[in-house]
Amino acid sequence: MHGFNADTEALGEAILRYVEGRMRLDPVPLDGPRTIEALQGAVGATITAGGMGGLATLRLFGKEIATACMSSDHPRYLSFIPCAPTEAAVMFDLVVAASGIYAGSWLEGAGAVFAENVALRWIADLAGLPPEAGGVFVPGGTIGNLSALVAARSAARIRQTESGSMAPRATRVAVQQGAHSSIRSACDVMDADLVSVPGDEHQRLSGDHLRTVLEAEGPETFFAVVATAGTTNFGIVDDLASVAQVCAEFGIWLHVDGAYGGAGLAAPSVRHLFDGIEQADSFIVDPHKWLFAPYDCCALLYRDPVAARGPHTQKASYLDVLTDAQWNPSDYSIGLTRRARGLPLWFSLATHGTDAYTEAIERTLVVTRFAEAEIGRRPYLEALREADLSVVVFRRRGWEAEDYHAWSAEMMREEFAFVVPTSHEGETVARFAIVNPTTTEDDIVAILDTMA
Ligand SMILES: Cc1ncc(COP(=O)(O)O)c(C=O)c1O
Repeated sequence: MHGFNADTEALGEAILRYVEGRMRLDPVPLDGPRTIEALQGAVGATITAGGMGGLATLRLFGKEIATACMSSDHPRYLSFIPCAPTEAAVMFDLVVAASGIYAGSWLEGAGAVFAENVALRWIADLAGLPPEAGGVFVPGGTIGNLSALVAARSAARIRQTESGSMAPRATRVAVQQGAHSSIRSACDVMDADLVSVPGDEHQRLSGDHLRTVLEAEGPETFFAVVATAGTTNFGIVDDLASVAQVCAEFGIWLHVDGAYGGAGLAAPSVRHLFDGIEQADSFIVDPHKWLFAPYDCCALLYRDPVAARGPHTQKASYLDVLTDAQWNPSDYSIGLTRRARGLPLWFSLATHGTDAYTEAIERTLVVTRFAEAEIGRRPYLEALREADLSVVVFRRRGWEAEDYHAWSAEMMREEFAFVVPTSHEGETVARFAIVNPTTTEDDIVAILDTMA
């Protein structure tokens, strides 16, 4: 199994041909799920005592397994938050896998960690975070949010201990209703309580509403406020400047969840929406969403990384050799062993330059604005809200929930588009999340035409 021989060489060539072939598909087939029974019948027994051989296994993967997975990089995959990695990032993921890099510590992965940190610094600069800001690439926004909240709670406990206060420990997190489900999940994992702040007239978390809730509930009971820079359902960016001001006033940690929307920092046409983000204590953005990296990749940044080390640094005699290192990524999130998952983003940024990222993000915003205009032009459609970023939510006049579901299922069955409905205040509605620069105006028109 180990060692490079003639079989390995043939398999290597086949894998590179497969990867190249997949990348050349334009567009890639949408594909779709199959039942366990259908997969069992088509795939059969694959793990056997003698093995099937690499070439046969690769053929089976391409024919039966890959085709039962939707292509989230398809230009008409507009559900949830798609993923449209650059070819450079995808290919470099292969290099990362082949390089035997342990990226949990500086001792073992200094070069990789250095390069990942360059990519993190680019993001920190976009947000206007100070020079000492830093963090780690984690698997996704859920883990990023959890780690940030763990750091926030630890910082609050340290402050309380240092102040000699005998008050009960802060156990609550303030958040607006539109925040991602992972915030609730993080609170459940941490046994913390979520307190909902009503949105303003634009459905944003704002300083005024936050202050009202904090004062009514007791600000000392909160260890964090979570603002969202691009909600999942609507792409709404909270009023970060006023929220940051209130957090500073009460001395509460501000975490900004930009898992989806944070990429908008690189787009001049929407950058102003993020004003105030430079005051965040922690911030996440998922490059696997709108920064064109493959799964799975979330950039987690702390204003003061020292605050994250207390609860995250693992201590043991066998780890002593790792202390005093320049930067151990595992000090900033839950988990010790890690893949250098930030490297595909770093490689693609280094390859193409940041202007290309700005252009690609702006291109998706142009298509979003086109979609809004098309919706406005069609009497049978109506947008629920003007898009802050690249999510458009709209209703088909006269449709009930089952009409949306039937329409969505039919487009999926035909492998034409993947657009699942969402709901808002109990009403089922349609939603586009446009983060793929290969999604065109024609794609939008073609989908909207099916709703006539
Ligand atoms: C705003 C926001 N936060 C957090 C997440 C969770 O990210 P992940 O799915 O990478 O865990 C998402 C996912 O869509 C999101 O949109």
